[in-house]
Amino acid sequence: MNIPSSIWTLLIGIALTLVSLWYGQNNHLLPTAATDEAVLVDGLFNAMMTVSVGIFLLVEGILIYCAFKYRRRPGDNSDGPPVFGNVPLEALWTLIPAIIVIGISVYSFDVYNEMGGFNPHDVHEPPVAQKPMKMPGSAIAATLSDTPPSTAPNLNQQKSEEARLDPATASVRNDDQIPQQRNAPGVGVVAPTIGSSPDKQGKPPGLAVNVTAMQFAWIFTYPDTGVVSSELHVPVGREVMVNMTANDVIHAFWVPEFRLKQDAIPGMQSEIRFTPRIMGTYPLICAELCGPYHGAMNTKVIVETPEAYNQWIQEQQVASIEELNQAVAVKPADLSPTEFLAPYTSNLGIQPEILKQIHTNHH
Ligand code: CUA
Repeated sequence: MNIPSSIWTLLIGIALTLVSLWYGQNNHLLPTAATDEAVLVDGLFNAMMTVSVGIFLLVEGILIYCAFKYRRRPGDNSDGPPVFGNVPLEALWTLIPAIIVIGISVYSFDVYNEMGGFNPHDVHEPPVAQKPMKMPGSAIAATLSDTPPSTAPNLNQQKSEEARLDPATASVRNDDQIPQQRNAPGVGVVAPTIGSSPDKQGKPPGLAVNVTAMQFAWIFTYPDTGVVSSELHVPVGREVMVNMTANDVIHAFWVPEFRLKQDAIPGMQSEIRFTPRIMGTYPLICAELCGPYHGAMNTKVIVETPEAYNQWIQEQQVASIEELNQAVAVKPADLSPTEFLAPYTSNLGIQPEILKQIHTNHH
């Protein structure tokens, strides 16, 4: 029986499509999608995987088939036929990738938009116009962004003020270590409010947590309760807004299971929103090279039931008061950096002697 080549092409096309669709949905290449936002990102990833697998199989399949079918036979020393341009074919292989790339870009912009990446300021406007504070260091920060500092008040400004006035944050953070406050840079530099899903935009977040990144630790403060912790505990199913800043250099808040990453920048507030959907313990990793112990700058995010979360908060309220008295509330000016960092670095398994060495090496 002789099957016409058009039928073969059709059958191979159907098989390729089915294999690509199946692998796109069942690749299991990413870890648990632990937030609502992670589900959006995975949708995009799986779509790109589907397209990539289809193209890979098509191109490699044709290559291997042709290498075999048109191999040199014994005794054949002739040249191949000269083949020049084929306009319809060239148009086709330009058009198809163009459509794919445009499709993926539209989809990815849509995912970014659904997380609130394009409308960072629609969450809530500050009630009273505030004059932005001019402080030393704005020249450095200005290089981070092409947008000139606007005089209009914005959310970051307001959050920054709130975070600064918050007693829990203030006790962790030396006021001098916020060199300046300014508006967030424009889209394309760093999205200051990535992570808010569309149904939650314009609504206040379920839970706000302030994060201070420093070499080489994360410090979480819960403004509602005054709890200070080195781990991030969040209840499942409730939107969390993390306001972050850094004390020294740029760090990055990255939880692979959340599919979200945000820079923590000295002198600036950035934020990230997410809604945890699967309980578990996930790694929080610093994703910006920030010094010799960058690789050790990780901690845990614990997504737990609201009951377990409330219980943890209550336990911490007692513990954090003790901790504050012991270590954090002491003004860094009275202590050497080694002594000041000791409570955090011991959690990371770093010996004070090593820190001392680093410190002396730098002087
Ligand atoms: Cu902090 Cu790397």
